Amino acid sequence: MALFPECACFQIFAQVVFACIFLNFLWGCWNFIYVYFMGTYPDFHKYGKWSVVTGGTDGIGLAFVNKLAALGQNIVVISRNPEKVEKVALEVSEKYKVKTKQIAVDFGHGDIYPKIAKELEDIDVGTLVNNVGVAQDIVKFLKIVDHGGNLENILTVNAESLVKMTRLILPGMIKKRKGIVVNMGSGSGICPTPLLSVYSSTKKFVDCFSKCMHSEYADKGIITLSFMPWFVATKMSEISQPNFLVPCPEHVVSSALKTIGRCRRSYGCISHFLQGKLCEDLPESFVSWILRHILSRAREHVRGKPTVSQARSQQ
Ligand SMILES: NC(=O)c1ccc[n+]([C@@H]2O[C@H](COP(=O)([O-])OP(=O)(O)OC[C@H]3O[C@@H](n4cnc5c(N)ncnc54)[C@H](OP(=O)(O)O)[C@@H]3O)[C@@H](O)[C@H]2O)c1
Repeated sequence: MALFPECACFQIFAQVVFACIFLNFLWGCWNFIYVYFMGTYPDFHKYGKWSVVTGGTDGIGLAFVNKLAALGQNIVVISRNPEKVEKVALEVSEKYKVKTKQIAVDFGHGDIYPKIAKELEDIDVGTLVNNVGVAQDIVKFLKIVDHGGNLENILTVNAESLVKMTRLILPGMIKKRKGIVVNMGSGSGICPTPLLSVYSSTKKFVDCFSKCMHSEYADKGIITLSFMPWFVATKMSEISQPNFLVPCPEHVVSSALKTIGRCRRSYGCISHFLQGKLCEDLPESFVSWILRHILSRAREHVRGKPTVSQARSQQ
């Protein structure tokens, strides 16, 4: 008996399936070129004179602050440490000749939003970068607290802050019918990442919330980008030497800004897109298994050194 029946219906069905797969492949290739090769910086001034960056005193947030200021945006730096906030704001205003505002608050506390609202009430915010985030130690869920991690803090800083900052700034953008919101997720939010359970879940939340915001408010002129990079060489990742797979924050940020308005979810740069695509296309359980092994080895490597939470509490 022939493996494939020779009936016309089956052949038409097979041709349609192959055509769909081929078109899907072509669409993917075009999208990749359109998003990661053809992008240019949006005209941020068109959306408003000010950009607000949370967690803007270090790593990826600091790279956002510098790039947006270099593009002529006035900057509101919001972060925890008042000295660092002041230093960054002064450096940026001197270097790029733009105005800056400093807000020193801890996003781990729920009562900071009236203060932020007051500081922002008379400025024209065109771009909001919800960047602030904290990591967890590479351990199983029940060990997070034993290792000095604060579950509530991870949830509040990584998820609640972006909902509340969006709630604060979105109405003003909708009134003008224009605005850009960039929400900082992570590659660990693409696929369940064992040993980073709470962190990875908060980043999944960021991705989902961003896509909902885009669907709800795109017709009001608001562009929302879910930014999901993989490892970046910053204090958080504890990787100091950038390479192709782990780029420096400046590279990821300048390339991610060019993807605004071209996609709902951006990996930022090409090497992170390739990592993300692999995770999206392989079976989820297989990717989770691989991630678990990579993280276990990373944990072995850092055994004996202070954990992220311990290092933070020693600061
Ligand atoms: N690095 C990576 O590999 C990577 C990959 C994917 C996604 N991400 C995401 O990218 C974002 C930034 O990460 P990063 O690597 O740039 O981190 P980072 O180098 O540790 O910088 C974090 C920034 O957030 C501030 N911050 C931390 N906790 C805060 C709090 N409770 N209240 C106010 N400000 C606070 C820090 O200020 P202080 O210096 O005063 O603490 C600092 O300015 C995070 O959302 C992270 O999840 C990072």
